[in-house]
Amino acid sequence: MSLHVKPSTTTDALAAAGSALLSDWAREAIAARGRAVIALAGGGTPRLLYPVWAARAGLDWTRVILAFGDERAVPPTHADSNYGMVQEALLAHLDAAPRVLRMAGEHPRLEQAAADYARDLRGVLDADGRLDAALLGLGADGHTASLFPGSAALDEAKRWCVAAPGPDGTSRRLTLTFPLLKRARHIAFLVAGADKAAVLRAVLHGPLDTRHLPAQTLLRDAALDVHLLLDAAAAAGLD
Ligand code: 6PG
Repeated sequence: MSLHVKPSTTTDALAAAGSALLSDWAREAIAARGRAVIALAGGGTPRLLYPVWAARAGLDWTRVILAFGDERAVPPTHADSNYGMVQEALLAHLDAAPRVLRMAGEHPRLEQAAADYARDLRGVLDADGRLDAALLGLGADGHTASLFPGSAALDEAKRWCVAAPGPDGTSRRLTLTFPLLKRARHIAFLVAGADKAAVLRAVLHGPLDTRHLPAQTLLRDAALDVHLLLDAAAAAGLD
């Protein structure tokens, strides 16, 4: 495997490339295993992809199971909810309903919600426990999903989903962990904007420092099939 860097000139082209890639991976999984399990990301850049995917997927959505890479500790109706964003940007526009595994961000005990989610995932993944694809964003601090710099979640070696501190260290999140993400058959990072150029350079070309740049755990692992989709602004700092 290796890192595939796929620059796009505009964010529209970036969203179209990401949409096509997810659909290719979904069709591959459906052909091989009868269904596709794809983990989606929150954030403004991944959000660009969802309306395009809804319009162009060309998928039998009844054979797709949508999971989440992370969720905020809020109800699904909250403005910060990743589920709420995906509902509005993707699910509301589909002609057939995929099964959706929603992380219960509203749960009063997030640790229980994390354990429940891991159980839900085990119920849909094959014995090999592999997501067919994971869509991820990259934060300006080098986080991905809700795996933030210095978080104890970075050290999780077994559980597939944990409760974790948010970006400010006070709010809390639910997040998939690297043991599960590293087993995904395919990973797509969607990165756009000049504000990501410096962190992307550090992640790809800087010293390996996964505690401070957690996304390196995936983007610097040549054993994984990682596709980095980015626009010209985010690519400005790359060799
Ligand atoms: C979230 C995401 C997070 C996001 C990155 C990139 O819940 O916010 O899971 O990991 O993908 O922070 O977000 P932007 O593309 O908006 O910078």
